[in-house]
Amino acid sequence: MEALKGKKILVGITGGIAVYKTASLIRRLTYDYDCEVQVVMTDHAQEFMTPLTFETFTDRPVLTSMWESGQKISTRHIDCVSWADMLLIVPATANIVGKTAAGISDDLLSTMILASEPEKCYFALAMNTRMYQNPFFQKNREALLAAGYSIIEPETGPLASRKEGEGKGRLADEKIILQAINDYFVFRKKLKGKKVLISGGPTREFIDDIRFISNPSTGKMGIALAQAAFQAGASVTLVLGPTQISPSGAFETVRVNTAEEMYKELLSCFDTADIVIMAAAIEDIKPEKRSGKIKKRAIPNEIQLSKTQDILKEMGKRKKDYQRLVGFSVETEHEEASSLQKLKEKNLDFIIVNNPLKKGAAFGHDTNQCVILGKEGFRLETPLMSKQELAKKIISLLAD
Ligand SMILES: Cc1cc2nc3c(=O)[nH]c(=O)nc-3n(C[C@H](O)[C@H](O)[C@H](O)COP(=O)(O)O)c2cc1C
Repeated sequence: MEALKGKKILVGITGGIAVYKTASLIRRLTYDYDCEVQVVMTDHAQEFMTPLTFETFTDRPVLTSMWESGQKISTRHIDCVSWADMLLIVPATANIVGKTAAGISDDLLSTMILASEPEKCYFALAMNTRMYQNPFFQKNREALLAAGYSIIEPETGPLASRKEGEGKGRLADEKIILQAINDYFVFRKKLKGKKVLISGGPTREFIDDIRFISNPSTGKMGIALAQAAFQAGASVTLVLGPTQISPSGAFETVRVNTAEEMYKELLSCFDTADIVIMAAAIEDIKPEKRSGKIKKRAIPNEIQLSKTQDILKEMGKRKKDYQRLVGFSVETEHEEASSLQKLKEKNLDFIIVNNPLKKGAAFGHDTNQCVILGKEGFRLETPLMSKQELAKKIISLLAD
């Protein structure tokens, strides 16, 4: 837990039954790890416990309101967020997750969360199982993940409402929360000073002005990788094909449409990148000719196709010793054998194999399951997990 020592942590406490557990967690942070902790409580959190306990463990007044008569507080909500190395919301109610997902800032804590970079906010969820399973809550939870916030999932066990027995919703164990925030501080230094180039999303290969050949990629994997690399301290450029999703994060995003545009953008940044991760589903076929809008009566029975440029292969040829090149491969049969062949042919360091026929994997899903293959027999099979978790795994692997 070395990385945690002496860090400045803003702990946001919301109105859940697990508030009492936060007292012990804060005591560990201040007494055992010399952290400076500033507590912010919502009105509802104060229904469960008064600020006194937290003030005793942190040696600081607990903040509870945007407004305090007679005292100069001005833009304290912004100053506190800038001061903090991280924001830890514990316990995080369904309400604070929903407010964050909707961009609501109607009290001190939600305003601070909105004023902070998503990358430095962790939500340790705790609520009744039925609230956790609620589809609107799940949508909000996924929206937070997609925007780059981190979530410490609740555990399964006896619920506060004893009549209901066991279920998922209990606040994660103190050790798990401490480990997660320690990992955050380890992770954010992993790629300091490195330049990372990432591609994501599909491409569109136009038949005429309004029709095109494409694939179901949404760009979620590429965006998650860019967020993870940025969180690990790298300077990141994401080259993103056409997708409805707007990446959030203070990294550079270049939008492109066609495989040719993807080629130009990526190759212009390639030489200065330390790590290149090609998560885009670049179309490998394109119509030979693009015309103006074809009238319905003139639609041809056949379209002549040709191959687009193989960007990964070109990168493999240009790769220098200090560069790491990672490809993704979408295969539905003999996945590993064909991917290993690609790894060799294209001079890659790693290839990440995903099969869209597997439940929850590859195109469009919020989750992915894959096998990571490397040179010299490296093989790591990852279970089904969120694309954000997988992205962090891949970034850690490359950094180590
Ligand atoms: C006894 C009791 C326990 C509660 N526990 C939780 C909980 O664990 N998680 C949760 O999301 N809401 C819980 N609630 C409901 C929240 O307090 C309520 O949604 C409130 O509006 C949250 O406000 P806040 O997020 O601003 O603190 C509980 C309410 C009561 C009365």
